[in-house]
Amino acid sequence: GRESKIAGELLAHYDVHARKLPWRAPPGANAADPYRVWLSEVMLQQTTVAAVGPYYAKFTERWPTVEVLAAADDADLMAAWAGLGYYARARNLLACARAVTRDHGGRFPATEEGLRALPGVGAYTAAAVAAIAFGQRAVVVDANVERVVARLFAIGTPLPAARPAIRAAADRITPDTRAGDFAQAMMDLGATVCTPRNPACGLCPLREDCAAFATADPAAFPVKPAK
Ligand code: ADE
Repeated sequence: GRESKIAGELLAHYDVHARKLPWRAPPGANAADPYRVWLSEVMLQQTTVAAVGPYYAKFTERWPTVEVLAAADDADLMAAWAGLGYYARARNLLACARAVTRDHGGRFPATEEGLRALPGVGAYTAAAVAAIAFGQRAVVVDANVERVVARLFAIGTPLPAARPAIRAAADRITPDTRAGDFAQAMMDLGATVCTPRNPACGLCPLREDCAAFATADPAAFPVKPAK
């Protein structure tokens, strides 16, 4: 059916069009280093890919492993984070690196549940790391994915009430294999094609599967809350 076609089409598109981002393994390759995936996902939470780039390079050069980061001086880390904003993320970063080092022998837990128990690791980050670094089937929903899914299914309920339906639909289209590539393919599609305004439906590999594309105004989804 329509839902089972979506992942295959999106992954085939990702194999050709994946953005080459420094924390990413090439499509289909073995999973990337969990430390690097976690670090990038924490940085990307409230910050754009373009802004994160130089910080990610600086951090991985200076603190190449989670154990090296765990030993960092608090003030040095806060200084290196300066400019990225949302400084609670930096404090949690250090707390998490220390927990992984002290409680898990320097290896990130490989399940969503184990990751979720770490300081500062919320549902999104746990799912993203489980899928991208460990190849687990996890349902990864950030704001970009939320928009793509709301459009694919033309979910007419306004946000935030639509979130459970969006998550359920994301779960239905998440494949059992390549869940990390699938998550990142959804993020890329949301960032580069299925953009908030003026989506480039002509370039979209999911156009024929998309209920919003079949309407007069695909960009009307997700429906915004009434003011
Ligand atoms: N935004 C958050 N995580 C991302 C990732 N892994 N790839 C692209 N954009 C992202």
